[in-house]
Amino acid sequence: MAAALLLFLLSYILHPQTQVLALATSSDHDFRYMKSVGNATAVPLEDEYDYIIVGGGTAGCPLAATLSRKYSVLVLERGSAPVSYPQVLTAKGSGANLLQEDDGKTPAQRFVSEDGVPNVRGRILGGTSMINGGFFSRANNQFYNESGIDWDMGAVEKAYKWVEDIIVFRSNLSSFQSIFREALLEAGVGPDNGFTLQHLVGTKISGSTYDDQGRRHGAVELLNKGVLKNLRVAVEAYVEKIIFSSNASRLSATGVIYTDSKGKTHRALIRDKGEVILSAGAIGSPQLLLLSGVGPVNHLSSLHIPVVHSNPDVGNFMADNPRNMINIVSPFALDPSSVQVVGITSDFNSMEAFSYTFPFSFPQPFGLFPNSTSPLEFSLATIVEKFSGPQSTGSLRLLSSADVKVSPAVRFNYFSETVDIARCVKGMRRVGDLLKTESLEQLKFRDLEGAEGFKFLGPSLPKNQSDDASMETFCRSTVRSFWHYHGGCLVGKVVDGDYRVKGTNSLRVVDVSTFDASPGTNPQATLMMIGRYIGLKILKERRVVK
Ligand SMILES: Cc1cc2nc3c(=O)[nH]c(=O)nc-3n(C[C@H](O)[C@H](O)[C@H](O)COP(=O)(O)OP(=O)(O)OC[C@H]3O[C@@H](n4cnc5c(N)ncnc54)[C@H](O)[C@@H]3O)c2cc1C
Ligand SMILES: *[C@@H]1O[C@H](CO)[C@@H](O)[C@H](O)[C@H]1NC(C)=O
Ligand SMILES: *[C@@H]1O[C@H](CO)[C@@H](O)[C@H](O)[C@H]1NC(C)=O
Ligand SMILES: *[C@@H]1O[C@H](CO)[C@@H](O)[C@H](O)[C@H]1NC(C)=O
Ligand SMILES: *[C@@H]1O[C@H](CO)[C@@H](O)[C@H](O)[C@H]1NC(C)=O
Ligand SMILES: *[C@@H]1O[C@H](CO)[C@@H](O)[C@H](O)[C@H]1NC(C)=O
Ligand SMILES: *[C@@H]1O[C@H](CO)[C@@H](O)[C@H](O)[C@H]1NC(C)=O
Repeated sequence: MAAALLLFLLSYILHPQTQVLALATSSDHDFRYMKSVGNATAVPLEDEYDYIIVGGGTAGCPLAATLSRKYSVLVLERGSAPVSYPQVLTAKGSGANLLQEDDGKTPAQRFVSEDGVPNVRGRILGGTSMINGGFFSRANNQFYNESGIDWDMGAVEKAYKWVEDIIVFRSNLSSFQSIFREALLEAGVGPDNGFTLQHLVGTKISGSTYDDQGRRHGAVELLNKGVLKNLRVAVEAYVEKIIFSSNASRLSATGVIYTDSKGKTHRALIRDKGEVILSAGAIGSPQLLLLSGVGPVNHLSSLHIPVVHSNPDVGNFMADNPRNMINIVSPFALDPSSVQVVGITSDFNSMEAFSYTFPFSFPQPFGLFPNSTSPLEFSLATIVEKFSGPQSTGSLRLLSSADVKVSPAVRFNYFSETVDIARCVKGMRRVGDLLKTESLEQLKFRDLEGAEGFKFLGPSLPKNQSDDASMETFCRSTVRSFWHYHGGCLVGKVVDGDYRVKGTNSLRVVDVSTFDASPGTNPQATLMMIGRYIGLKILKERRVVK
């Protein structure tokens, strides 16, 4: 017994995969960045900067902080500062956040894709990192090999550490996350990789931007690493258009036009050798290129937008990883938990889980109990499945030629490629395997006759899980968004290997719209890394070029 325990502990300590980590320690929110943040109404109507970053989001914040070391930087963010919506700062508030009615200013902007699947995107300083699940896990090797970027892996490592050092935490496993972890290992999703931020096949615990007091430390806190006197962040600043100038040889971005909350139009221009960088996310960045006349000629012409530069791929290759899941009603109270554990298989699937307890002190999620007046008290354990890619893609098109506040139409064409449906079926079979583990037995109810079984809320897996047809039907009929949508400005198609918009000068796109696949199990770690990485690269290039 004692020997076995010792061996277990040793394997934990000596595990070869375990990194030496320098993570943040629990700390209060750090609002120093607020010195640089102001209402767009207070910014001059015309002004000059070295760098203009459109979108103060997950990638935009680390990028802005890095460039401010040497240059003047303007960040234009359409949303408000987190202090205006304090629920984004805590795990407790995060549900309320997603459920809050969208009044055009709230942090979670809702949209429904043309596939009919509801979705959401961030509209606040810090971007979607302020409304997401907080799970933090680095990219897979395949991402570096296939992203079309010639990565300096030493610099990648340093860029991750720069982020992790202040906003990534290792918090105690909640009771349900431990149960889920045991179930994964029991079902053969091995090896046990302990705690690691790396993407490794097997079961692991990863980091979170929530600290162990449940405070969220999103990308916004990376602004604190900048030189605040060089950094100006204008909130409630809606960028409408990129300003271009061209001569015989070259088309160059020279600035942007944006409006403040009083409806006043501002111009921000870049200085010599400066750049405009779009970090407006998978919906925002392609939308802005199209509004500015960079995109497919037919689409632009149909909206009477003058074509500045023709590129048929702007807004194409939009993809969203399907989320398929089961909800188990727990016979005992579970602590609410966000994702801390992930099981990664060698066949492109990953599984995550979370738990929550009803009743909420706010409207119940997903319209599950529209009529519940006397709140039921129970806990729910949700197991979600994701697969790499996906291969199925769709496109994004403008619905308005002038108003940036009109969200574009987007279609993801879930499961239009057969490889995707096959991966979903495989993944849901894995979830079926989890349900057969002893570890999950405790979530079963026993009825009066003594028979045991799970109680599902919403769909359960097909009875015959070897039947492909019923598994495929399950995948298609229960599809939700994993919220990891990407594409629209792919590397190689819209931007080059330095994220510069093809056919233009002094214009880049640095955000999730450049991805042709979702990196690792969850994208935010990679996006923050890339913001830092590209910022440093730009600083270096200018030092050489000067
Ligand atoms: C509900 C949910 C849960 C998620 N959970 C996780 C998770 O646990 N772990 C994980 O790794 N990932 C998670 N993700 C995904 C991840 O958060 C996103 O992929 C990532 O944050 C996208 O980063 P980005 O920099 O590309 O864009 P964003 O962070 O969305 O930043 C874009 C910014 O640009 C601004 N903007 C857009 N248009 C304009 C304009 N015209 N003018 C001015 N500003 C503009 C937006 O307001 C926004 O702040 C989740 C996503 C969601 C929605
Ligand atoms: C910005 O200023 C406008 C106009 O004064 C005001 O309505 C708005 O609430 C302000 N926003 C913030 C975040 O202070
Ligand atoms: C990526 O490339 C590296 C170096 O060439 C190689 O060692 C690794 O196996 C590759 N990984 C994948 C997933 O292709
Ligand atoms: C986390 O677990 C450790 C070890 O059991 C304990 O000392 C600590 O108080 C826990 N922290 C929280 C916030 O629960
Ligand atoms: C055209 O623009 C490019 C890029 O801004 C510049 O390098 C070049 O000198 C310009 N050429 C002329 C003829 O003005
Ligand atoms: C929900 O409530 C409405 C209005 O009280 C009622 O008409 C409807 O039948 C109820 N639905 C269910 C499923 O109980
Ligand atoms: C389950 O489905 C498979 C494949 O369709 C079929 O061969 C098998 O007979 C089914 N089993 C049951 C019990 O229906």
